[in-house]
Amino acid sequence: MPDDSGNTFSMVTCNAPVNIAVIKYWGKRDEECILPINSSLSVTLHQDQLKTTTTVACSRSFQEDRIWLNGKEEDINQPRLQSCLREIRRLARKRRSDGEGGVDLAGLSHKVHICSVNNFPTAAGLASSAAGYACLGERPSNEVGVYPVALSGPFSLCSLPLLSPFSFFPVYTLARVMGVEGELSAVARQGSGSACRSMYGGFVQWIMGQREDGKDSVAQQVEPETHWPELRILVLVVSAERKPVGSTSGMQTSVETSSLLKHRSDSVVPARMKEMIDAVHRKDFAAFAELTMKDSNQFHAICLDTYPPIFYLNDVSRHIINLVHHYNQHYREARVAYTFDAGPNAVIYTLQQHVDEFLQVVKHFFPPETNGGQFVKGLPVASTTLTEELRQAIGMEPMVKGISYIISTKAGPGPCIVEEPSQHLLGSDGLPK
Ligand code: DP6
Repeated sequence: MPDDSGNTFSMVTCNAPVNIAVIKYWGKRDEECILPINSSLSVTLHQDQLKTTTTVACSRSFQEDRIWLNGKEEDINQPRLQSCLREIRRLARKRRSDGEGGVDLAGLSHKVHICSVNNFPTAAGLASSAAGYACLGERPSNEVGVYPVALSGPFSLCSLPLLSPFSFFPVYTLARVMGVEGELSAVARQGSGSACRSMYGGFVQWIMGQREDGKDSVAQQVEPETHWPELRILVLVVSAERKPVGSTSGMQTSVETSSLLKHRSDSVVPARMKEMIDAVHRKDFAAFAELTMKDSNQFHAICLDTYPPIFYLNDVSRHIINLVHHYNQHYREARVAYTFDAGPNAVIYTLQQHVDEFLQVVKHFFPPETNGGQFVKGLPVASTTLTEELRQAIGMEPMVKGISYIISTKAGPGPCIVEEPSQHLLGSDGLPK
């Protein structure tokens, strides 16, 4: 299509999801190529609740590459962003010279404008830029009072103020606008490691690979999002005041100082990955839950073993951990599992049949602030009454206002193209609408 000055102009918009690891990635063997010291596994969350939308436009009339994240222009010269741009352009050139089509030769020299926004509530402090900053290396500063959820996005949403793996890097959209097809997780990885797992829906492993050039360090779908429809995910956004250490620098210090991390990557994760993949294939929730909690706990033990130590969990996080164990002990089975990334927010995995009751338990032990806002957002939940027996069995002191709000979601698909032109985030002048 033509832009405002009549030049040829291509524009593509895509949505991409967030993922939450159940076997954590922590530590790189190559900082520049972003190659991990162990494989990891995550669940891609549904885009109805958490997604990043990115529009990329490419035109002869653009003077320079530019990027806007959540309404604010950012520095396009961030090294990770530059690596991804360089790599996509190289792949586009290769495709062209191999005679496989893609963008025409002139288009290859055109500059791009990238514009990206999240659908989750930034004003409430959740993920001020989960999707937006992932590939930019440094985490955004937090909204007052709440940590970013660090969900890992397709682009690599490193840190939503709190869950750690939300990283965004617009690799998928850039590839579409440049006519690049095929395996893209190795490119997304260069924006932010955990982001590569968001290139697929459902249950996704990031195979660490062995090669020095990182060509075999790629994400792979283990099962699609339709495999385990009963699985539910609750993001518990914890009230917090301090900004956590970013995962990029945190894992660097862990690699340098923690001998426990070496033990984890050499002796724990390889077997744990196999067990986790098996639990997912068999939809064995008890096994999935135990491995998830143990892996989160080992990750935070490594943070404490790092010198100087890193503290991502706070009192609310520890209270949630106790609550989950008391709940599971009452039923003598693992009905609920927690996992924490580089911040105090909890992500809970459970099954559909336990969601309503567990949410009542959370509301009772973390009475929300009654300021009119919705405490549970996302997938609908039914209100049930908490039995006196269960309340007594858990037997903990309630922690008022410890949790700001909860997002209820499930496993979802990978990135997808938005066909409707009215959804483009850039106008025909190439600037944010
Ligand atoms: C704790 O992907 O944010 O969320 O590769 O340096 O950008 P970089 O790190 P990042 O690390 C996320 C770590 C984690 C665990 C996980 O998602 O596997």
